[in-house]
Amino acid sequence: MKITLSTSAPAELETDALVAVVLDKGEKEKPQAGVDSADAAVKEASAEVFASGETLGKPLEITLLHKPTKLKAKRLLLLGGGKAKTFGALELRKLAGAAVRALKSRGIKNFALVAPETGVKPDEAVKAIVEGAFVGAFDSDTYKSDRKEQKIDSITIVAKGDQAALQKALEEARIVGESQNFTRQLVNEPSNRMTPTILADAAKKMCQEVGLQCEIYGADKIKELKMGAFWGVAQGSDEPPALIVMKYEPAGAPAKPVLGLVGKGITFDTGGISIKPSEGMEKMKYDMAGGATMIGTMRAIALLKPKVKVIGIVCATENMPSGKAQKPGDIQTAMSGKTIEIINTDAEGRLVLADGLCYARKLGCTHLVDAATLTGAVVVALGYANAGVFANDDALYDRFAKATGKAGEKMWRLPVNDEYLDMTRSSIADLVNTGGRWGGASTAAAFLREFAEDTPWLHLDIAGTAWMEEAKPWIAKGPSGIAVRSLIELVKDFAG
Ligand code: BES
Ligand code: MN
Ligand code: ZN
Repeated sequence: MKITLSTSAPAELETDALVAVVLDKGEKEKPQAGVDSADAAVKEASAEVFASGETLGKPLEITLLHKPTKLKAKRLLLLGGGKAKTFGALELRKLAGAAVRALKSRGIKNFALVAPETGVKPDEAVKAIVEGAFVGAFDSDTYKSDRKEQKIDSITIVAKGDQAALQKALEEARIVGESQNFTRQLVNEPSNRMTPTILADAAKKMCQEVGLQCEIYGADKIKELKMGAFWGVAQGSDEPPALIVMKYEPAGAPAKPVLGLVGKGITFDTGGISIKPSEGMEKMKYDMAGGATMIGTMRAIALLKPKVKVIGIVCATENMPSGKAQKPGDIQTAMSGKTIEIINTDAEGRLVLADGLCYARKLGCTHLVDAATLTGAVVVALGYANAGVFANDDALYDRFAKATGKAGEKMWRLPVNDEYLDMTRSSIADLVNTGGRWGGASTAAAFLREFAEDTPWLHLDIAGTAWMEEAKPWIAKGPSGIAVRSLIELVKDFAG
C-alpha cells in the first residue's frame, strides 16, 4: 500500500474517491453536519446531501456520491465522524480503517483522504490515518480458495502543515501498521501451520530482515536453564518447544534501562490433561497472540531505532494431553527455584511466562512487560472492549497508560494485590497454578508477579481483545494485533 502526502486543493485530485470527514458541529437538539474541510469545492459538492438531511455525520456513517460537481475525483465519500466536540485521533484511526474497508470491498484501488482539522494536530492526523488504514487493510480469509484479492494500492493524504514532519510521521506510522499486521498474520495461522518451530522460524526470519539478534533454543536448553514450569507444559507435546530470544541493543543506548517483553506463545491450548470442552476449542490457535505481539513489536522497534535496549522473549509450545503430559498434582520447579503444584494443566500460560519472566531478569532486564491470552476471567470482567492491565509499579503503569492513549488502544487496570496471592498458595509446594474460580484474572496476575519479583512489571491479559469475534467497519473479524502499538509507544517513551 503506497501512501503519499499532498498539499493540493482537494478539488484538483484525480482519484477514484475523495474521502472527507463529516462532523456534527451543532448542539444536542440541533445537529449540524458538515464536511470538516475549509475547501470550498468539497463543501459545495456535499452541500445538497446535507441540505437533504440524509447525512448526519453519525460515527462511521457512509455516503458515497458519484461524479461530484467541480471535483476531479470520480467519487466523494463522506465519512461520519460523530460530534466535533468529541472527535480525536482515536476516531480518525477508525475512520481511516473504515474508508479502506468500504472502498476496497467496492473494488476501488485508490483514494485521497482530506485530513480533518478538528480535534487532531496535523502530525497526529497523519499518524492516525496511516495506522488506521493498515488496520483496515488486513483480512483474515487467507485460506479461502475463492479469495478476492481486494486491496487498496494507494492512498493520498491531503494535509496542511510542515510536510517534512508529516512525512516522518507517515513513515513511522507505516512501520507501526505493518508490524501490527505482521503480528496479526502470525496469530491468524491455525496450529498445524503455526507450530512453535514455525513461529520461531518466522521470528528468526524477521530478525534477519530488520537486523535484530535472534536465538532460538529447544528442549535441551530449556531443561538446561532449569525452566521446569515451561518444560512441564512442553513435555506433553510431540511438537518441540521453542524459546525465542530477540535482542535490540542499539549503539549509543544507555546500559540501563533494559526493557523485557515476554510473550505467551502457546500455539495450541487443548488444556492438556485438564482438557477443554470441544466447543470453541478451535479458538485456542490464538493462544500465541501474546508472543506474536512481542515479535511484531520487536520488528517495529528495530526499524524505528529508539535509543533504548529491548529484549523480546517468547515461550512457544503446544499444551497437549499425552502419555508424557504433566498431570494435576504434579509439582514443577520453576527456573527461579519456586515450586508449583499443578492443579489444572489448563492454567499453562502462567507457567511458561513464569520462566520467561525469570529469564528476562537473568538477561538483565530492568523493566518487564508480558502479554498473554491468559484467562477467560478477564473476558468475564472486561469483555471484548478492554485488555486487562496489571502492574506492581504505579510509575510504570502511568507511563503505559499514556502509551495506550497515544496508541488509541483500550486497556483497563485491574488489581493484583497480596489477597490474590494468598489464593495461590499450595499446602505441598510454594504456589498452586490456579487460584480458583473467583478473581481469576487477578490470581493469575498475582502468580506472575511472584516471578517478576522486585522488577517493575506490567502484565497485559489480552484473552478478550486479541481476537475480534465479529468484523467492525474498520477492522476484519479475526486477529486484532492489540498491544503492539501501545508497546511501541512505551518503548519510545523509554528512549526519551
Ligand atoms: N488460553 C486460556 C485462556 C483463554 C480463554 C484465552 C479464552 C482466550 C480466550 C488459558 O490458558 C486458560 O485455559 N485459562 C484458564 C485458567 C483456569 C484453568 C484457571 C481459564 O481461564 O479458564
Ligand atoms: Mn489453558
Ligand atoms: Zn492458554
